[in-house]
Amino acid sequence: AATGHDVLGIDVDAGKVEAYRRDIIPGYEPGLSDLVHEALTRGKLRFMHTDEVAESLGEVVLVTTGTPVTDAGTVDLSQVESALFWIKGKQPGESVITMKSTVPPGTGVRLVETVLRDTSLKYVSNPEFLREGQAVQDWFHPDRIVIGRADDQAMNVIEALYDGIEAPKMITDITSAEMIKYASNAFLATKISFINEIAALCDRLGATIDDVSRGIALDPRISSSFLGAGMGYGGSCFPKDVRALDQLASTNNHDFELLRSVITVNNRQRLLPLYALRERFGTLSGVRVSVLGVAFKPNTDDVREAPSLDLIRALVSEGAQVSAFDPKAMPAARSVVPTSVHLASDPLECADSAQAIVLVTEWPEIVNADWEEIAGRSRPPRFLFDGRNALDPRRMRAYGFDYQGVGRAKVRSAGDRLQVGIQ
Ligand code: UDX
Repeated sequence: AATGHDVLGIDVDAGKVEAYRRDIIPGYEPGLSDLVHEALTRGKLRFMHTDEVAESLGEVVLVTTGTPVTDAGTVDLSQVESALFWIKGKQPGESVITMKSTVPPGTGVRLVETVLRDTSLKYVSNPEFLREGQAVQDWFHPDRIVIGRADDQAMNVIEALYDGIEAPKMITDITSAEMIKYASNAFLATKISFINEIAALCDRLGATIDDVSRGIALDPRISSSFLGAGMGYGGSCFPKDVRALDQLASTNNHDFELLRSVITVNNRQRLLPLYALRERFGTLSGVRVSVLGVAFKPNTDDVREAPSLDLIRALVSEGAQVSAFDPKAMPAARSVVPTSVHLASDPLECADSAQAIVLVTEWPEIVNADWEEIAGRSRPPRFLFDGRNALDPRRMRAYGFDYQGVGRAKVRSAGDRLQVGIQ
């Protein structure tokens, strides 16, 4: 809508539609409320329940339904399929169905040959690469636009959809476009698990992951992104897509060993603080632990597959007294953490009388909190596990914390890291 198109948002959930109409955006996504407000005011954006839609759907119909992964690792395509049946019933014409939902490679071709077989609707795969917390920025400045299509008939409409957005366009077949999405997420997840494995070795061999990451990132073939060691990846995409690709491989008689290791490493990373706490305290029964950060990453209130949740549940099941804080995700956390967890209103309150503190999400509100005050409010032994390597070990130790990071066993101070010159 902000780039001039007339947009109609359609959903089966009447409550959601009503909220959007009243300009209430569920969840926290920086910049999105302003955009929606402006588009609603300008009349470029409307919302309707599926039952209310009497008009034609327009030249482009974007399918953006969820594609959850089942416990068995298969992708549940029921929402996508029912959306297509609904569109087909509404729009027998020549609209271009643009699949934004992440669907397993092969799905688009199958849908074209089955659900859409007896229609003149066109189908393109147009995977979405935006990141939560940066979604608005990523929409306007994507690093690529991938379009998978069966023939070129739909292309002028898709070109018009992205008019004014500068980005390399890649045109491919439908299945390759679908694979690009999965391969991108799987590769980034692999980078994260790889650097976490190197961090584990750094701890054992006396190297410092901060320097190692920086050192390898200077090779442009490797690049610096997604080399942050820590408690691993979470969120609504990486865990689901990596599992789905692994499952897809095995149903197609390929053992994707690498991807299974990526998953195993990631599951381990989430519980690193638990292992460290066990080592420090012996039993966790009665130990007061403060968990700082619940969202799966900063700048979002999304707690789906957040590393914090696995940790909190494990701590509670071992008898720890847990308090937790997140700048935005407290409402979302309430329904998913055990009721015994105290949900604090700020980092200081969260740390009250804590014997151990775990930094799980590197929100600025947490990283830049008054750590001297936090130390004062906490209790010995003041064990501090920095699950994102976001704090300065020297400063933390000066405040009296028993500091531990991930792959930072040898980092005594920020100065230590700076002494490593590049020659
Ligand atoms: C991801 C993809 O980046 C995006 O292209 C796709 O469309 C959706 O999935 P998102 O889920 O918003 O986006 O999160 P992202 O910023 O990629 O981070 C994913 C997870 O990896 C987070 O839990 C983050 O903490 C973790 N991460 C990221 C690391 O552990 N280390 C890093 O170096 C980078």
